[in-house]
Amino acid sequence: MDESTDLQGKRLVLGLSGGIACYKSAELVRALVKAGASVQVVMTQAATQFITPVTMQALSNQPVVLDQWDARAPNNMAHINLTREADAVLVAPASADFIAKLVQGRADEILSLMCLARPIERCPLLLAPAMNREMWAHPATQRNIAQARADGATVLGPAAGDQACGEIGDGRMLEALALRDEVIAFFEPKRLAGKRVLITAGPTFEAIDPVRGITNLSSGKMGFAVARAAREAGAAVTLVAGPVHLPTPAGVRRIDVQSALQMHDAVLPLAPIHDVFVATAAVADWRPASLSDHKIKKDGAKQVPSFELTENPDILAAVARLPQRPYCVGFAAESHDLLKHAREKLIRKNVPLIVGNLGPATFGRDDNALLLVDAHGERQLATASKRALARELVREIAQRLSSPTAS
Ligand code: C5P
Repeated sequence: MDESTDLQGKRLVLGLSGGIACYKSAELVRALVKAGASVQVVMTQAATQFITPVTMQALSNQPVVLDQWDARAPNNMAHINLTREADAVLVAPASADFIAKLVQGRADEILSLMCLARPIERCPLLLAPAMNREMWAHPATQRNIAQARADGATVLGPAAGDQACGEIGDGRMLEALALRDEVIAFFEPKRLAGKRVLITAGPTFEAIDPVRGITNLSSGKMGFAVARAAREAGAAVTLVAGPVHLPTPAGVRRIDVQSALQMHDAVLPLAPIHDVFVATAAVADWRPASLSDHKIKKDGAKQVPSFELTENPDILAAVARLPQRPYCVGFAAESHDLLKHAREKLIRKNVPLIVGNLGPATFGRDDNALLLVDAHGERQLATASKRALARELVREIAQRLSSPTAS
């Protein structure tokens, strides 16, 4: 599954109320369309002060609706028609004033009128607030946000950071791509709602001296994709990551570690309070038995240094031995005999599911092929993006959790 098809077939209404964050809505409409959605833009008069309808029409490829007296609709009821076929309404930016109007059920211009007239059970409302930090923190706005949530709206963000007014704090609208990802996540079935998922990802780095170490070619992409998919499926996700250069998936709690021992120490106390443990990390099997305090120098002795290795703890096996163990999923990155090695690991580590993949063929890439191996048999997931495979794996895990024989 390609990122560009995540919203294929979805019909969205994108509402803009007045705020400087309207400049981000141009990028947002582009990203939504690129992901496969059809987007009908509706703007308040205030929004047109910040960005022109021409821009929004060009990017959405549809005429923009600007007022409730728009006579183009044969029945002259734009406020009704707009949401009857829509899969969701996203208001981005949602100003403080617009949110206040929403919770009062006001309907004196097209956008609030349309929101009030939407079939509430069929057409969800997503709000991306954007305002100055004082406006966001004001008890009136917080009261209104709480009420909007109670009325069924989903609130996306806001983010914290620099504001157009020069102040710093909460209230910025999420960036366009982050909003697109939140919309994608919104539509994913919540198969892991209420579940807590712990994931390890990436390589580990085993220091030899202050500047050198032993590591491997794992990029962390598979584990990060599983973290994102689990969060999209409604889980609370903790990701323990080795040294990788990947952005944290939205809504995921990340703990960075370097070595296998650090990963072990981060994971073990957390494991009993999670429902699922997915060990995607390529943990180094060995580490130098002792760490040199100083950089080992080439000059002087003219002798090639040698150092002893000692074995790292097996994190997955340790979690699987816990009396209160989560549902454990291991990965097997092999160069050959995938099925044989995956089966061996299933037994040796005493876990219910091992996911085999060919390490050299997938390290660093955006696609992969997986072989799911359990006590009953195996299932091949053909080559696809790591995102698509992660979603499929999450679906499998959710299914197994709901089966009474899951262990
Ligand atoms: O033993 P091997 O490294 O082949 O097993 C791979 C699986 O075990 C992966 O799920 C990996 O994350 C996990 N593992 C671990 N701790 C280790 C070694 C591997 O959790 N020290």
